[in-house]
Amino acid sequence: MENEKIYQLAYISTACDCLKLDDIHNILNCSKENNKDINITGILIYCNKHFFQILEGDKEEIKELFERIAIDCRHDNVIKIQEGYVDERKFGNWSMAFKSYNKELKDLDNFNNEQFYSYINKQLETNDQNVSLKILADFFDLNG
Ligand SMILES: Cc1cc2nc3c(=O)[nH]c(=O)nc-3n(C[C@H](O)[C@H](O)[C@H](O)COP(=O)(O)O)c2cc1C
Repeated sequence: MENEKIYQLAYISTACDCLKLDDIHNILNCSKENNKDINITGILIYCNKHFFQILEGDKEEIKELFERIAIDCRHDNVIKIQEGYVDERKFGNWSMAFKSYNKELKDLDNFNNEQFYSYINKQLETNDQNVSLKILADFFDLNG
């Protein structure tokens, strides 16, 4: 969309002890559906019982969604790590890109690791102040 101002918000959280694989399927499916309707894009990573999510879209929609996510009982310790306007969408191709480091959830991954990794690093060449992208790149560096 032309002249669209893009707001980005990133947080980490801890999955609740009782979280099942099915819950992750549900979270992802619901996210993809809802986000499409409200033009939100982003990425969700699940690793070692922790979530890292970056959301981008209209400021009000992002804030509203984050309020819902923050009170979702499937996770806790929700800690916002960054929010603010960015020059453009970074995850425009995904209503929710997903990567898990859990073997049983591999079928849910929806991007090619190598391509994505080089894409993120390319973005960082011109957006080196974007904390969320930096964390994402470091995360891929460490975990592959
Ligand atoms: C880690 C995590 C990430 C989530 N990400 C999204 C998301 O990107 N979009 C979304 O609509 N819901 C997401 N949800 C689900 C929301 O918390 C909420 O259940 C959903 O938006 C439906 O809200 P409602 O029942 O009030 O309509 C996420 C939940 C968790 C635990």
